[in-house]
Amino acid sequence: MNAEFEDIQGLVRFGYKHLTQASFLLLRVRDAGAARAWLASAPVTSAIVRKPPPATAMQIAFTAPGLRALGLAEDVIGGFSAEFLAGMGSDESRARRLGDLGANDPARWQWGGASQGMPHVLVMLYAVPGGLDEWLAAVRSQCEAGFDLMARLGTSDLDGVEPFGFVDGISQPHVDWERKRPARDKEQFAYTNLSCLGEYLLGYPNEYGAYTDRPLLDSTRDPAALLPRAEDDAGKADLGRNGSYLVVRQLQQDVEAFWRFIDSQAGGDAALRRKLAEAMVGRTMEGAPLVPATAADPLNGFSYDGDPEGLGCPFGAHIRRSNPRNADLPPGSADPISRLVRTLGFGSKALRNDLIASTRFHRLLRRGREYGGAPGEDTGLHFICLGANIARQFEFVQGAWLAGTKFDALAGEGDPLVGHRLPGADGMPTDGFSIPVPSGPDCRLPGLPQFVTVQGGAYFFLPGIRALRYLSKVLP
Ligand code: HEM
Repeated sequence: MNAEFEDIQGLVRFGYKHLTQASFLLLRVRDAGAARAWLASAPVTSAIVRKPPPATAMQIAFTAPGLRALGLAEDVIGGFSAEFLAGMGSDESRARRLGDLGANDPARWQWGGASQGMPHVLVMLYAVPGGLDEWLAAVRSQCEAGFDLMARLGTSDLDGVEPFGFVDGISQPHVDWERKRPARDKEQFAYTNLSCLGEYLLGYPNEYGAYTDRPLLDSTRDPAALLPRAEDDAGKADLGRNGSYLVVRQLQQDVEAFWRFIDSQAGGDAALRRKLAEAMVGRTMEGAPLVPATAADPLNGFSYDGDPEGLGCPFGAHIRRSNPRNADLPPGSADPISRLVRTLGFGSKALRNDLIASTRFHRLLRRGREYGGAPGEDTGLHFICLGANIARQFEFVQGAWLAGTKFDALAGEGDPLVGHRLPGADGMPTDGFSIPVPSGPDCRLPGLPQFVTVQGGAYFFLPGIRALRYLSKVLP
């Protein structure tokens, strides 16, 4: 059975790379009636392939306060996930887990922190080169009656390279649109990039073979049958189906500090300078992986099974932390005895592998856009990702793997790009970076400054298009 592309917002399927201009509007509902009237016919772009591709695109997503402001009943809102309801910048415990401490503290954010009030609606606008101004002006005038503009997040086209200078947007999970992969909860012995549709869309089986919780409505609450019916409960209208959660995090990058630190370590050696920076990312600046890949897929056809000592790609490199490319069990054959040995954690390499959770439950579809980029300009990445489970996907990767100080048996370090460098709760430093070398102890870079600062963020629900129209019909 094919995915219902006509009901899915396009961003789940496409990165809209040909639409190089983009702008994201953070809106608050001022007049719920006028807001709903606009949502009823807003020209939101679906995931259907169009030829030629569209010259503009629009995506619409909501925070929990936004759904409330539109008049959605409280018990229906309660069917969304706890972390979506709480919000990204909501409490100290979440801030600690996500590494939102010190300069990253939500109290200092430009938007999405407690002091500014939450945005209600995110309207994402994309256009071909030169097409954005007109598109933006048209949409803003359509939205005027119902919404106040809280902030506009501008973006810039750096031609596929993020501000530190590395090619970005290379690795993405391969979404199983055709649902070829049987829904099952069976151990996987090898890393695969194919990932169940239910990891990115609500209403479909996920990697556990289960349906992620979402609001399921009594059919009496959808008398006109605007919503699809739930696959796992035919009597219920599925408000989540074909929708996803969308995480936005504004990450300011201090490009000068990044290269100044690397220069201070490289001592004028140009080749070493590049090597150190590439070790921190885990790819060359042009995007090639640091471990051998298949000829068929030279950029993405690799895992770290052949690099158990981290000699090719350091364990702490950004891409090895954010996707360790492991399976459910440490590498080895699938025969029952070797499986038992690995399950019990014996074997020299098994211990380290056991410290990393299985990747397939923690994949992200990344859809970020850069901003700034010129010298002296406010510069960074609007990090954007999609997933059906914010806690298990974004929060786990950000908290346990990037901000976490115990990733993969490493101690005293966080992610070399996005780490906050403050001591951990146990007083341990987090500002180191280790590069394993063939003989002797790791080469250790000490005293990494903070290169990336969180400036804002929020959790949104990106509904299916039928669900979007349903939300526009909800009566107060
Ligand atoms: C300003 C901050 C960041 C910068 C400069 C940055 C940069 C990069 C670069 C250069 C790559 C390699 C290109 C690619 O594989 O697409 C990459 C990959 C990746 N990043 Fe980031 N990143 C940032 C923040 C984050 C955050 C906050 C997360 C997650 C919470 C994240 C998750 C990932 C993932 C999942 C990959 C792909 C890894 C793989 O599958 O091999 N990144 N990033």
